[in-house]
Amino acid sequence: MAMASNRLLPLALLLLLLAMAHADTPRLEPTVRLPSQRMAAGQGDDGSVGTRWAVLVAGSNGYQNYRHQADICHAYQILKKGGLKDENIIVFMYDDIAHNLENPRPGVIINHPQGGDVYSGVPMDYTGKEVNVKNLFAVLLGNKTAVSGGSGKVLDSGPNDHIFVFYSDHGGPGVIGMPTNPYVYGDDLVDVLKKKHAAGTYRSLVFYLEACEAGSVFEGLLPNDISVYTTTASNAEESSWGTYCPGEYPSPPPEYDTCLGDLYSISWMEDSDVHNLRTESLKQQYDLVSA
Ligand SMILES: *[C@@H]1O[C@H](CO)[C@@H](O)[C@H](O)[C@H]1NC(C)=O
Repeated sequence: MAMASNRLLPLALLLLLLAMAHADTPRLEPTVRLPSQRMAAGQGDDGSVGTRWAVLVAGSNGYQNYRHQADICHAYQILKKGGLKDENIIVFMYDDIAHNLENPRPGVIINHPQGGDVYSGVPMDYTGKEVNVKNLFAVLLGNKTAVSGGSGKVLDSGPNDHIFVFYSDHGGPGVIGMPTNPYVYGDDLVDVLKKKHAAGTYRSLVFYLEACEAGSVFEGLLPNDISVYTTTASNAEESSWGTYCPGEYPSPPPEYDTCLGDLYSISWMEDSDVHNLRTESLKQQYDLVSA
């Protein structure tokens, strides 16, 4: 079970990233077929091409949780390179890392020991106390009037649109963290996704959750007929793992006393950085990431 969910994880993401990279081309021929295949073609039943949206959430704060905000910033850079527009990327991050007194490189966030800055250019849509459950649910539902503070950007998506949600944080049984109270409960989150589906405001939604016991957030709750594909870094009982941590190999530069990333997030993002999404086949990427 753990293997199955771990192996599916990179696949769904790569489908999405490939779809983004191929936004201008009429079709794509994936070598692996999944229910979400149609999303790779990017076309609705009427042939119209949908918009690609992303919601990126770092669900923690504090310098010791550096890696969650680093994951989110890195994901933004990849999506941006993949052709998404800032108006379609909504970022939730506390934003207490780049200018944290403990940060050895002020104004810079890295997600790899030799990596460059991933902080620059990231839209700060919801920061500090604006990173809360109420705003997250309002953004997902596209309800501008329910949002308080922040940029006011919401998922103003239509029936042919594709949505990618990436959530990086700690989790527990049935719950994922937030830097503010309350946390996000699985049943509430699933209710929001059901409402979003009932409103007919997406064609497919990929929810990637990097958190401990992430599997339990959706397990037994998510209907399989609402075009939501979830990939989680761990099953209901496992931990997800920080990576590039002090004392491990590879370790962060010596001046960092915190982990720089999370293992599963890193594996899809670094593959996307290195390889040309326009020419590499899906099967090749899948083999690489799941190796
Ligand atoms: C949007 O949020 C407001 C405030 O919470 C609520 O009154 C309203 O019913 C919501 N609109 C929709 C379409 O759900």
